[in-house]
Amino acid sequence: MTQATLPRGATIGIIGGGQLGRMSAVAASRLGYRVHILSAEPEPPAQDTSRTITVGAYDDEAVLRRFAGSVDLITFEFENISSAGLELLASLCPVHPAGRVLAISQDRILEKTFLGERNIPVAPWVSVPDEETLENAATELGYPFLLKTTRFGYDGKGQFRIADPETLARLAPELPYPLIAEGFVDFERELSVMVARNADGAMRCFSVTENQHRDGILDVSLAPARIPVSLAEEAEKLARQIAEEIGLVGILGVEMFVSSKGTLLVNEIAPRPHNSGHWTMDACLIDQFEMHIRAVANLPLPDPFRHSDAVMKNLLGPEGMAMCGTIMEHSGLALHLYGKSTCRPGRKMGHVNALFPLGALPGPYGVSARLDEALQDLQKS
Ligand SMILES: Nc1ncnc2c1ncn2[C@@H]1O[C@H](COP(=O)(O)OP(=O)(O)OP(=O)(O)O)[C@@H](O)[C@H]1O
Ligand SMILES: [Mg+2]
Repeated sequence: MTQATLPRGATIGIIGGGQLGRMSAVAASRLGYRVHILSAEPEPPAQDTSRTITVGAYDDEAVLRRFAGSVDLITFEFENISSAGLELLASLCPVHPAGRVLAISQDRILEKTFLGERNIPVAPWVSVPDEETLENAATELGYPFLLKTTRFGYDGKGQFRIADPETLARLAPELPYPLIAEGFVDFERELSVMVARNADGAMRCFSVTENQHRDGILDVSLAPARIPVSLAEEAEKLARQIAEEIGLVGILGVEMFVSSKGTLLVNEIAPRPHNSGHWTMDACLIDQFEMHIRAVANLPLPDPFRHSDAVMKNLLGPEGMAMCGTIMEHSGLALHLYGKSTCRPGRKMGHVNALFPLGALPGPYGVSARLDEALQDLQKS
């Protein structure tokens, strides 16, 4: 059955006021919608680009009721809303993606269980509800392994690398249980796939992206990823399977590892626009934010048409902001700033996209001189 399309002029409520909300609101307005942001923080980045903003707590029933009453559809840029909050919103207004999708992605154990039940490959893992279960995790996984908080992790926060029994014994009394223990993946590279799906079940993927992290935070994304076509096809197939089986309406980032054996392991899923999809803003006719809005509004999802290869670099903290002057002088670079008034080290302040002709990013066996130069330029400036 064909579902209704959100009429032009309708108001989309976005939960969360960060940069993802800011850029989603621009895309929504380009499609003729109005945006109302709900943000827990005052003066968030999305305030500059949306018609209305409510500042209030995501678990305040009165705030959620008023917000749901003032919009025609609710979506997210931030997935950590309580299940009670999600249920309340869904009783008052259409919510996409559905609460169930958020509940799975909020909790690493539910997430890994969901994936495992569908034979989607993940790193070996063990649930660690308390200190007593730590030893068992070490025995099952061997050293080194990672401990992660089951909820509220981002940018590598809430993660502990356990190299040996001494580290384990030292950290054990202080750790923020419940945790998940994951086998340490000696990966060859990291990938992500952005997949969008609308209520009619139409699906689209953006080109598989290669991601490089520094200090647990995404640093650079390259699109397309420098991997063989067959592996890219496999990555896209996994993303489509997850989107379909989770009943996604919206956009979803699927983070993956390429193991040292060349096989794919899914790391985590994020049912919202994703930092690793920011390159689409300049290298595609339809970017990830527009695809997200189209998906939740049940509009058509045509080929996003990647017209260039791209490298995205995050601008973090004062160091990142110091690069803005040079970036603006360069041809082929597109600067995106998030309008954040406080600039702390490591904080995502903006990003820059470098565009290259199609095919300029090399295959799996090296980095082109052109790309090297561009990255060095960016890093030097
Ligand atoms: N099992 C693992 N083995 C090796 N490296 C890992 C593993 N899990 C995570 N990492 C590294 O840490 C990074 C962040 O981990 P993860 O994505 O699980 O956490 P996060 O805090 O949700 O991060 P983000 O918000 O950046 O997605 C990964 O992109 C990867 O580089
Ligand atoms: Mg991640």
